[in-house]
Amino acid sequence: MNLPNLKDARVRGKHKPEVKREDYVIPEAVGNIGKNKKYCILTYGCQMNVHDSENIAAIMEDMKYIQTDDMQDADIIIINTCAIRENAHNKVMGNLGRIKHLKEKKDIITIFCGCMAQEEGISRSLSSKYKWIDIIMGTHNIHKLPIYLEKIIKNKKQEVNVYSIEGDVYEGIPVKRDSKYKAWVNIMYGCDKVCTYCIVPYTRGKQRSRLLEDILKEVEDLVREGYKEVTLLGQNVNAYGKDLALGYDMADLLESVSKTGISRIRFITSHPWDFTDKMIEVIAKYDNIMPYIHLPIQSGSDRILKHMNRRYTKEEYITLFNKIKEMIPNVSISTDIIVGFPNETDEDFHETLDIVNLLKFDLAYTFIYSPREGTPASKIKDTISLDTKKKRLAELNKLVNKYALLNNQKYKNKMVEVLIEAPSDKNGKYMGYTDTMKLVNVDCDSKYLGKIVKVKIESIKTWSMDGVVVNDK
Ligand code: 5AD
Ligand code: SF4
Repeated sequence: MNLPNLKDARVRGKHKPEVKREDYVIPEAVGNIGKNKKYCILTYGCQMNVHDSENIAAIMEDMKYIQTDDMQDADIIIINTCAIRENAHNKVMGNLGRIKHLKEKKDIITIFCGCMAQEEGISRSLSSKYKWIDIIMGTHNIHKLPIYLEKIIKNKKQEVNVYSIEGDVYEGIPVKRDSKYKAWVNIMYGCDKVCTYCIVPYTRGKQRSRLLEDILKEVEDLVREGYKEVTLLGQNVNAYGKDLALGYDMADLLESVSKTGISRIRFITSHPWDFTDKMIEVIAKYDNIMPYIHLPIQSGSDRILKHMNRRYTKEEYITLFNKIKEMIPNVSISTDIIVGFPNETDEDFHETLDIVNLLKFDLAYTFIYSPREGTPASKIKDTISLDTKKKRLAELNKLVNKYALLNNQKYKNKMVEVLIEAPSDKNGKYMGYTDTMKLVNVDCDSKYLGKIVKVKIESIKTWSMDGVVVNDK
């Protein structure tokens, strides 16, 4: 049994990651184990987790399993978890009850993985109190799933394999992509920023960038397969390459990916700290790098930003924001905001409202601070009641919605380009996003699926717009 521990997860710099290209193997004993059987994956959390689930799906299919969305119908249930806030955690625990119930009725295999498994307390308690879970594994060893499966089938004993110290950079793990048009591409794993509220540095380990040539090869393959859009994924993409020290950075990566000719490039998430002028220039220069930036601010109060260890002041954020707006035509900027960080005063909160009024973000994802065990902020004694925090969130959301609508109104009767992705829930329309990441429900037929089309925007809502196709690009 390999259980995680927070002390090891805090250690930085001891392990020097290598690129491993041959670590993914399927033992003969499980090569066909999934024949006539089905797997179901439940995914929680960010795009990184969504993409991990795409890897898990491909690994399952390498063992001949077939995917189902229906838990009742599955022979293996995999629950890929998120640890970022208490509510993500609660959703997972709720579902575990349902899975246990299924397991009592039918002989199924259950796998618990993802960020929650990386939490010391969780894995420890699951391994002692949830013996019915067959495999508990973390974020650093997804590619070992077939080996763990072989072991539980042979030994009929729970397999717990969670490592606190991150592994190497594994190339060659298969992927079954959810979309035929848009692809997630990891450019780095982990994070070195250590914001005091955040669990990610412990669940995902220290920063490890993939080599530029490996990323380019993946994107070139996607271009050949007809993909229209890639989103470069990392916890802090601007820091790409720093750990490699090979003389290239995020701006160089963006430029190289742009030259592959892929129609659309996006990237998440950016930290205001490492956002260089060179990066802004590259985004402005290349038409296929989308003019949309997700730039979490977290708070408008310098006092709180300092306690969060964000390493920028309100003024520095504003300067960067304005520079991006000036240098990248038509750019849209979204953000993340936390309310109710320990001991956030009314004054601090009003500074957050002030900055939203000043910068008028296109979109803001807002959260109530959630203490995460083991993070520095979780040790701060908090005097603010949950009720106050909820009221603040509601007030902030009102403002955020106002600016989302106001920003969208600029699009009324304008022509935009939309990559048509899928049927929308809305009465026979199709959905897709503009270059600036605005959701559009388009009146068109299925022949436009996977195409970037010109759309005229006819009506506006807070979170989406409606439009009609004018012609193909
Ligand atoms: N509590 C609330 N929100 C959090 N986030 C990260 N950690 C926490 C936490 N402990 C938010 C941040 C981050 C986004 C992905 O989630 O705003 O940018
Ligand atoms: Fe993603 Fe962070 Fe949640 Fe892990 S804890 S799934 S990295 S948001």
